[in-house]
Amino acid sequence: MEDVYKSYYTKSDPIVRYMIGQLSVQSGMRVFEPCAGDGVFIDALNSIIPKLSIDIYELNPKAVELLTKKYGSQSNIRITRGDTLTSQELILFTNAGGIYDRIVANPPYGGWLDYEKRKRLKKLFPELYVKETYTLFLFRCAQLLRDKGILVFIIPDTFLNLHMHTRLRKYLLTNTKINEICLFPSSFFPGVSFGYSNLCIITLQRCSDRSECLDNEIRIIIGLKNVGELAELHQRMYEHQKIVRLKQGDVYQNIDHSLFVSEDPRIACLINSSMTRVGDVADCVTGFYSGNDKNYLHPISRDIKNAKRYEVVDRSLVCDDYASKEDILEGIATPEHFVPIVKGGGTKYFKPDTWYMDWGVEAVKDYKTNKKARFQNAQYYFKTGIAVPMVSSSQITAALIENRLFDQSIVGVFPKDMKWLYYLLGLFNSPTCNKLIRTINPSTNNPANYIKKIPFVEPLDLVSKEVTEIVQAIISHLRKGKEYPINFETRVYDLIAATYGI
Ligand SMILES: C[S@@+](CC[C@H](N)C(=O)[O-])C[C@H]1O[C@@H](n2cnc3c(N)ncnc32)[C@H](O)[C@@H]1O
Repeated sequence: MEDVYKSYYTKSDPIVRYMIGQLSVQSGMRVFEPCAGDGVFIDALNSIIPKLSIDIYELNPKAVELLTKKYGSQSNIRITRGDTLTSQELILFTNAGGIYDRIVANPPYGGWLDYEKRKRLKKLFPELYVKETYTLFLFRCAQLLRDKGILVFIIPDTFLNLHMHTRLRKYLLTNTKINEICLFPSSFFPGVSFGYSNLCIITLQRCSDRSECLDNEIRIIIGLKNVGELAELHQRMYEHQKIVRLKQGDVYQNIDHSLFVSEDPRIACLINSSMTRVGDVADCVTGFYSGNDKNYLHPISRDIKNAKRYEVVDRSLVCDDYASKEDILEGIATPEHFVPIVKGGGTKYFKPDTWYMDWGVEAVKDYKTNKKARFQNAQYYFKTGIAVPMVSSSQITAALIENRLFDQSIVGVFPKDMKWLYYLLGLFNSPTCNKLIRTINPSTNNPANYIKKIPFVEPLDLVSKEVTEIVQAIISHLRKGKEYPINFETRVYDLIAATYGI
């Protein structure tokens, strides 16, 4: 199948079994499959209840051909070659208040949409973020359910937390009862493994009574170790599996109506109730991009990570006193015009200078005019702050930015009061902070807007002093190329865990 249709077919018996089980379908019901592929869910439904009335939509003509061969002779199955998101027929069904008793789907996700299509979708779904279509399928299908109708979807979990999906969450929380969300790694799905988020299977019921919706309790299942566990989820639970229960009304009250899923209820509570957040004590901003790194960016040596395709910097052209230049944002006019830049990568506390950017006057002019370049948040360039890499696969990390430039793979955190510099550095490297950020945004990305949301619990003076001293000692070790004693770090993390009470 061509990739434009994002045809990741559900070749997994446990996933299909769990999803069809969740659907609780009964004879006489009207069922919809909005993106049928080769009909895996239809086969499963047919095998339990023959002659169910099933409507199928599918966009890919080849898949439609196959579906017609398979089901064309069955009068209970109606196949439409069409676009579920733009179909006039489905809009009519939506306007009629929904007509389906059951909907089951594995909609396409992660596909690229051309600008024309995006424009059309924006008109049809003005409230929603249209660049990621799985959420549009979810929204359209929730509207296509009649009252009390049930939907089961397998989709990424990003709609639970990302800011761009706030309006979708608001709709779901007030127009449906979310019965169950089962969260698991994308690697459970054969042929798919994206690092940036998990997958989930959501089961929800359309409900026209708003207060009933808000009273509903969402059951969230986490901790599954393998896909096989899905098939027997309701017969048998293992100790490693956990159920988190959230009241829909409470989620609705959360910032951005986010679902904060954590085994530890104190974490969600802290995230919601915190009066002060990192964004209140520090400016969090994205860094610089030259627009042409191949030309302007230079490593100190080809041996450092990812440096092979770059030309090594001529050390005699490195500027040592750039920090004292008042007009540094105009570029450096002397031959020594290369400045250090902090890039991504999970190094804690201190990153030695390994990358340099051309900061000559002409180069800077180019950064300011080239459309590809990002000369953004320039008032923070060459200041002292903290570099948090935008992508961190397991543990969030942070290192000092000492009067350096920082690139766009970094969120620069600049304390409003410098007394918090080393304390925040300790905080960002701590497991406590990791738990918080992963609950705020479970994907591997930490853009500035999520870092800002991390609760900031003001420590006792004694604690802040001790953390600051230890973090300074750690940096001093690293500066000398030495390893720091591990107990330094554990002491910092214990102090922070105690301050946060988690
Ligand atoms: C992820 S596959 C899932 C197929 C099948 N339901 C399964 O689980 O194996 C998504 C299917 O949606 C179809 N599709 C993509 N965009 C669509 C759209 N806008 N309307 C209807 N079908 C669409 C693709 O051609 C593909 O067959």
